Amino acid sequence: MDAPDIIIAIDGFSSTGKSSFAKLVAKDLGFLYLDSGALYRGVTLAAMEAGAIDENRNIDLPALEKILCGLDLHFERQGDACVLYSGSRCIEKEIRTLAVSDKVSPVSAVGSVRNFVDGILHRAGESRRVVMDGRDIGTSVFPDAELKIFMTADPQVRASRRAAELKAKGENVDIGEVLRNLQERDYIDSHREVSPLTKAEDAIVLDNSDMTFGDQMEWIREIIRTRFSSAAPESPEAASEPQAKDGAR
Ligand code: DC
Repeated sequence: MDAPDIIIAIDGFSSTGKSSFAKLVAKDLGFLYLDSGALYRGVTLAAMEAGAIDENRNIDLPALEKILCGLDLHFERQGDACVLYSGSRCIEKEIRTLAVSDKVSPVSAVGSVRNFVDGILHRAGESRRVVMDGRDIGTSVFPDAELKIFMTADPQVRASRRAAELKAKGENVDIGEVLRNLQERDYIDSHREVSPLTKAEDAIVLDNSDMTFGDQMEWIREIIRTRFSSAAPESPEAASEPQAKDGAR
């Protein structure tokens, strides 16, 4: 479709389905999709594997900074999906485990980690036409993004979506533990010193607690149509998909 050359920044709380929504929007517009959380997860996995973070989440900062110097994180296309690689190793599965979710917020609060990820994101957004999801895209990474969405949903709804997703992947999960993990991540992400999760003043709030993906696509198409006078296409496949089906993290 004839889409404007813009950056769409989608920020919000954990497990609100940001990445699923962002992927659909990118597909609709023919834009590149970038999952910034995957990069923070990739750094966290590398730190865990190198012993730079212990079980109490104490971080060995010099060791972490050394890891960053040699870390090659990049996305590769696999069919319709974009998966994360560390060098030649696909780490898409490992970065989505609860073990990584448990450590990712403290790692992503480290300034040098944020600079490392921001560098990758800035290079990817140079030519615009990109949809990025995360916590600080509209406030810090691309404060000049033309369209900013801030996503939220009821915590119980988010926990059930996330638990269903983990179960589908074969992880044995307790919904209480999932809820605790995401509430704790929300707290750390919102209270850290560097680029905390907060709604950009010019972001539009999307509470998708009771919305299907189809509802969300209709909502954003209308915004794009009115703001950028660009006709967003109809997408019948998305219209009937329930939100809980995939990707809520
Ligand atoms: O989107 P996600 O749940 O996969 O993100 C994992 C963690 O990464 C999240 O708890 C906080 C961090 N994150 C961040 O600090 N800034 C971003 N732009 C994206 C993610």
